[in-house]
Amino acid sequence: EKAGYKHFMLKEINEQPRAIRDTTLGRVSLDTGKVFLEAMQLTDDDLRNASQITIAACGTSWHAGLAGKFMIERLARLPVEVDYASEYRYRDPIADPRAIGLLITQSGETADTLAAQAELIAKGSKTLAICNVVGAAITRKAQGTLTTNAGPEIGVASTKAFTAQLTALFVLALHLAQVRGTISDEESLHLVTELSKLPGKLASLLNINSPDAPGSSEGVAAPTRLSQNAGHNKNVSFRPEAQSDLSGLTQNVSSRPERSGVEGPPHFATDRRSTTRQPLSAQCEELARLFHTSDDFLFLGRGIHYPIALEGALKLKEISYIHAEGYPAGEMKHGPNALIDESLPVVCIATKDPNDPSSVLKYEKTLSNIQEVTARSGRVIAIAIEGDTEISQLVEQTIYIPQAPELLLPILEVVPLQLLAYHIAVRRGCDVDQPRNLAKSVTVE
Ligand code: F6R
Repeated sequence: EKAGYKHFMLKEINEQPRAIRDTTLGRVSLDTGKVFLEAMQLTDDDLRNASQITIAACGTSWHAGLAGKFMIERLARLPVEVDYASEYRYRDPIADPRAIGLLITQSGETADTLAAQAELIAKGSKTLAICNVVGAAITRKAQGTLTTNAGPEIGVASTKAFTAQLTALFVLALHLAQVRGTISDEESLHLVTELSKLPGKLASLLNINSPDAPGSSEGVAAPTRLSQNAGHNKNVSFRPEAQSDLSGLTQNVSSRPERSGVEGPPHFATDRRSTTRQPLSAQCEELARLFHTSDDFLFLGRGIHYPIALEGALKLKEISYIHAEGYPAGEMKHGPNALIDESLPVVCIATKDPNDPSSVLKYEKTLSNIQEVTARSGRVIAIAIEGDTEISQLVEQTIYIPQAPELLLPILEVVPLQLLAYHIAVRRGCDVDQPRNLAKSVTVE
């Protein structure tokens, strides 16, 4: 049932290449860059004339919504507000018939999210759902549903459903942009091509030969020598990702192939100095060994990476019971810097898309924030882009992920955070798939 994995969570983390592929497949054309969404009761005119999008969701799905705001506002130039579904109806929200409500939910049965949908409908808004369960309650009242094809998620901590939600939000943002005329054909084609490369990049990051194969870095008896270099400057890297994508699969938007086309050798993190090749999972296991006794963790990110910092903190909290907070990197100096000392691990998402000036600027600001943490003896674990040697000079630990456009980076950068939480929880002897006090589907308000 767990396909040889020790826990459902680990199996589901490793299923992400397939989940992303299946959420993309049939919805994009690699020839034209056009997005095709399933039939819905919302017309293109409804989308064109929309005044705003109101996202309501809970927990991990809310984090996906926060990232979706960046995608939709940037590509479709449409204002987006994101609410906790559990709060939405208690603030007499302003919604109108031109506003579109977007409910994001893995189960489609979360009571708070259903209540937010009812409030939106009562105010005259039309609603769309992003949901992983076909026919779930939320989809029955929605004017359209974008199904995340992540497959059943058994582990209580959401992993593959989250990255599938991010994928669905990206596809929706592209569709809105195309309908509203805010994106060029060339940019559309570029982004769709990049989206199609994600399953291969994820497989490479997870050290899986094919998204269809259950194989993972687990069980790979790779030497795990994350050597400590006077406490600092660890250089680890990935070989360039497999040049694999969905080509040939998405050309014909209606056919579903048997295989993904993701091929190529497994890819490992590499310690350049020792030439020890290290899979991501082994690297996270080593970080877990170093940090599993910490009482607190901080996760920092800027822009679209901030919701991923929140998600990294939530994963750690719920399965390892370690207190963790996600914070916008730039807010540290407004208070939380006071928390930093030599015992505090600070996970900083410091990725960048070198082709995107706003992303580079954000990265540079994040570097300054990291320096503020290291100056106060905080122990920084950075998530960075493959080949970034600047960052590894600054911090104690670096985990590299493959390059991608800014709006797609969250799908890659959350993976090491999931594995870090997983390995810390395992080390602490926690019940990873069934954390205390939590249920998979929360059907009470
Ligand atoms: C965290 C987690 C929860 C859910 C939340 C919403 O790992 O799984 O935070 O994301 O309860 O659930 P859905 O998406 O089913 O509405």
